[in-house]
Amino acid sequence: MSQSFDVIVIGAGPGGYIAAIRCAQLGLKVACIDAWSNKEGAPAPGGTCTNVGCIPSKALLQSSEHFEHATHHLGEHGVEVKGVGLNLPAMLSRKNQVVAQNNQGILYLFKKNKVSFFHGTGAFVGAAEAGIYRVQVTPKSANGEPQTLTAKHVIVATGSSARELDLAPFDEERILSNDGALQIPQVPKKLTLIGSGVIGLEMGSVWRRLGAEVTVLEGLPEFLGAVDEQVAKEAFKILTQQGLNIELGVKVKAVSKTAKTVTVSYTNAKGQEQSLTSERLIVSIGRIPNTQGLGAQAVGLALDERGAIVVDEHCRTSLANVWAVGDVVRGPMLAHKAEEEGVAVAERIAGQHGHVNFNTIPWVIYTSPEIAWVGQTEQQLKKAAIPYRVGVFPFLANGRARALGDTRGFVKVLAHQDSDEVLGVHIIGPSASELVAQAVMAMEFKASSEDIARICHAHPSLSEAFKEAALAVDKRALNF
Ligand code: FAD
Ligand code: NAI
Repeated sequence: MSQSFDVIVIGAGPGGYIAAIRCAQLGLKVACIDAWSNKEGAPAPGGTCTNVGCIPSKALLQSSEHFEHATHHLGEHGVEVKGVGLNLPAMLSRKNQVVAQNNQGILYLFKKNKVSFFHGTGAFVGAAEAGIYRVQVTPKSANGEPQTLTAKHVIVATGSSARELDLAPFDEERILSNDGALQIPQVPKKLTLIGSGVIGLEMGSVWRRLGAEVTVLEGLPEFLGAVDEQVAKEAFKILTQQGLNIELGVKVKAVSKTAKTVTVSYTNAKGQEQSLTSERLIVSIGRIPNTQGLGAQAVGLALDERGAIVVDEHCRTSLANVWAVGDVVRGPMLAHKAEEEGVAVAERIAGQHGHVNFNTIPWVIYTSPEIAWVGQTEQQLKKAAIPYRVGVFPFLANGRARALGDTRGFVKVLAHQDSDEVLGVHIIGPSASELVAQAVMAMEFKASSEDIARICHAHPSLSEAFKEAALAVDKRALNF
């Protein structure tokens, strides 16, 4: 016997669970299938983001920052603390609790919205018959029976997995993916990371703050190539000053391990042979879409050369009424991008006009200071020959930043030379992840830099740096 639904969602990461909830809000009968289990074998919806991504990494970033403040910075505020110690098991256990709370929260939301949840692996059985798709659920529990679900619409939100280095397959003991990187049981004396992208910098920062000597090996000759060059330069300066060793332009040649160590042999940017031995190696060289075992071939679902599901701008796949969202399709691999796509697809299924503005998706790298941006970088504007004006305002000239004791970085606004429309905002500094939200809003409303400059911002606040950067576009910053 099969159970029939209006929509089947495969995957309960931020793309899938949000799509399922929005479908239910719109009156559709929804099933959501997710394969993730926690250590006890119980369902753990929330995907990469909740289990081994956004949430646990931010929990450890917060905890490790508290540790660094207590050991190095509270004295600047006249707060004297003695005997500060690190209880790593407690820190990791707190992180696990935060994850579990989020898993439970999603299960509660499914119940509240009457989404039928299935804990198992979902796969297409074959081509649609009379416009109806069949999806088989292979249960996670040993005593569960396979079930068949049917629906007119299927949303695939199966996410992504860490990309392995052929030379160094993950064993999660010495050679770690993002999963192992979040649960190293003792602070390593030495830690190597391959890839100085978002994970490399965030996880490198966590373990450096906790006491590891961290080296990040990056293949490309430039640092954070997708980030505005001025911001990337500032970030490189600050992060290396903090003690992250970042080597650019390396070529990894071999990786070998013993019971307690792992050695990476590589050539550096000058072509010299080098080798680095540490207790653990984190490989963070990007992610690959999860389409294995989905039955894509059985149903004729088109994939691209990376294995991602081919979709148009509305997340429509090559098959009628099969949609795909999040990391398993093109575009940035970000939780909020996956969520926006999930909502837009649900609304389209319900006959509405949901859409995602890909030009205003913010990015945040949760280092200290944070790096956040939206829109185009200066190098992109130059390449596209778009005339622009720039306004930069340093946090050093912001009263709130001085009071906080965190004056690193700046806000940079890029506006069109003629129309003054804001084309990009780039921030490195305290609370950049929060500040970028007003830049996103400004760009959604097609604000000019003058619009921002005319808005009254509370004093003293970090947000005044955004207003001042907008004023600086017209060379009339007031405090710098
Ligand atoms: P996923 O979250 O990967 O979820 C997919 C789900 O589908 C999983 O539960 C998986 O088990 C399940 N699944 C797969 N195949 C099947 C199947 N056949 N049947 C049933 N279930 C299946 N993004 C941010 O925006 N901000 C951050 O701070 C951030 N930090 C990150 C930190 C780390 C360490 C990592 C690795 C990623 C981070 N990301 C962050 C990226 C973010 O996690 C992803 O972009 C996001 O999780 C993608 O959501 P998704 O729903 O597409 O897929
Ligand atoms: P990434 O794409 O951010 O960075 C990978 C880095 O590895 C790049 O700099 C690349 O040049 C380098 N690289 C690739 N192959 C290499 C090799 N063989 N040797 C040396 N260097 C090599 O990927 P990362 O850090 O794995 O993260 C994956 C994705 O997860 C991110 O792109 C992002 O979408 C998401 N994420 C988002 C976060 C956030 O929003 N704060 C945090 C963490 C991850």
